Amino acid sequence: MTRPAVRIAGTGSSPPERVLTNAELSRTVDTSEEWIVQRTGIVERRIAAPGDCPSDLGVRAARRALEEARVDPAEVDLILCANTLADQIFPGTSCFIQRTLGCTNSGALDVNAACTGFLYALHCAWGMIESGRHRNVLCIGTETLSRMTNWKDRTTCVLFGDGAGAVLLQASDKPGSAFLAGSLGADGNQAELVQSPGGGARIPPGKGDVDPATYTIQMDGRAVYKFAVNKFVELCERTAAQAGVGLGDVALLVPHQMNLRIIEAAAERLRFPKERILVNIQKYGNTSAASVPTAFDEAVREGRLRRGDLALLVAFGGGLTWGSLLLRY
Ligand code: ACO
Repeated sequence: MTRPAVRIAGTGSSPPERVLTNAELSRTVDTSEEWIVQRTGIVERRIAAPGDCPSDLGVRAARRALEEARVDPAEVDLILCANTLADQIFPGTSCFIQRTLGCTNSGALDVNAACTGFLYALHCAWGMIESGRHRNVLCIGTETLSRMTNWKDRTTCVLFGDGAGAVLLQASDKPGSAFLAGSLGADGNQAELVQSPGGGARIPPGKGDVDPATYTIQMDGRAVYKFAVNKFVELCERTAAQAGVGLGDVALLVPHQMNLRIIEAAAERLRFPKERILVNIQKYGNTSAASVPTAFDEAVREGRLRRGDLALLVAFGGGLTWGSLLLRY
C-alpha cells in the first residue's frame, strides 16, 4: 500500500489589533526607539486584548486556514497546538480550540518546544498523515508572551509580541509529498539559557516570597544570539543537502523572527539573497511559536510563495530546541 502524501490545504494568521510601538515602550522602560531598531529590527509588536488567551488567537487563525481549505471543522481529525504559555496549566490550549471551532471528531494535543514549537507540530503531523492515521491535521502556533514578559526588564521586554498562525495539512492520495526533508533537535543542557522558571512543579504559582520575575522570561541574550546564528546556518545547509537540492533552488526562506541581525548574519554566511527571505519582525517582534506560521501565511497571501515553489522553514528557541522543514508549496 502506498503511503498518503502531505498536502498544504490552507493557511491563516490573526495578529492582535493592539499595536505597541517602540516610542510607547521607551516611555515606560529605559530604552530608545533607535536602540531597539538597530539591535533587533523591531519597530512595533502586537499585544493580545485583555480577555484573549492563546486559544482565542489560535481559533481566529485556524478559521482562516479552514476557510481557505474549504474544510468543515468536523472533518479535522487532529489539532496540534504549539504554545509556550498555555491558556491554563491544563487542559491543553488545543482542547479549548477544539471546543470553540467545533472540531467534534478531532484529537487535541499541545506541543511545547518554545519558539520551535510550530516546527515540532509540523513534523508530528507529517508522521501522522503519512502513517495513514489522520487525514486533516490542523497545526497552530499561538502565543501571548506579553503575559509572561517582565515589562521592567529592557533586555527582554522589547523583543516579544503576541500572535497566531495556522496551517491545515491534508492527506493526499496523489504521489509526491509537500514535505521533503527536515530535522528536529534539542539540547537540554542549555535549558537555562532562555526560560521562565516559575509556575510549574519546581516553583509552583503563589509559593511564598518568590521574586515575581521568576514567572517571566529570563535569558542570556548574547548566548542565545550566538546559538541561533550558528544553528540557522547549519540547519539550512543540512536540510537542503538532505533533500538533494541547493539553497539556490529555495524560492523563500521563512525563518523564526527572533532578531533581524540574526537573520542577516546567517543569510550573509549562507550567501542567501535577502529578497528571498520572509522578514516581518519589524511589525510583530518575536512571537515565539506563532512566528513561523504567521510569516508563512503572509508569504502565501502576498504571493511571495506560489504553488510548486520550494520553501525552507527554520526555527530555534528555548530548550534549547531547533527544527527545519523543506517543503514544496
Ligand atoms: N535598550 C537600551 N539598552 C539596552 C537594552 C534596551 N532595550 N537592552 C540591553 N541594553 C544594553 C545592555 O544593558 C548593554 O549595556 P552595557 O554595554 O552598558 O552593559 C548594551 O545594551 C549591549 O547589550 P547586549 O546584550 O550586548 O546587546 P546585543 O547587541 O547582544 O542585543 C539582544 C541584545 C537584542 C537581546 C540580542 O542579544 C538578541 O536578540 N539575542 C537573542 C535573544 C532572543 O531572541 N531570545 C528569545 C529566545 S526565543 C524563546 O524561546 C522564547
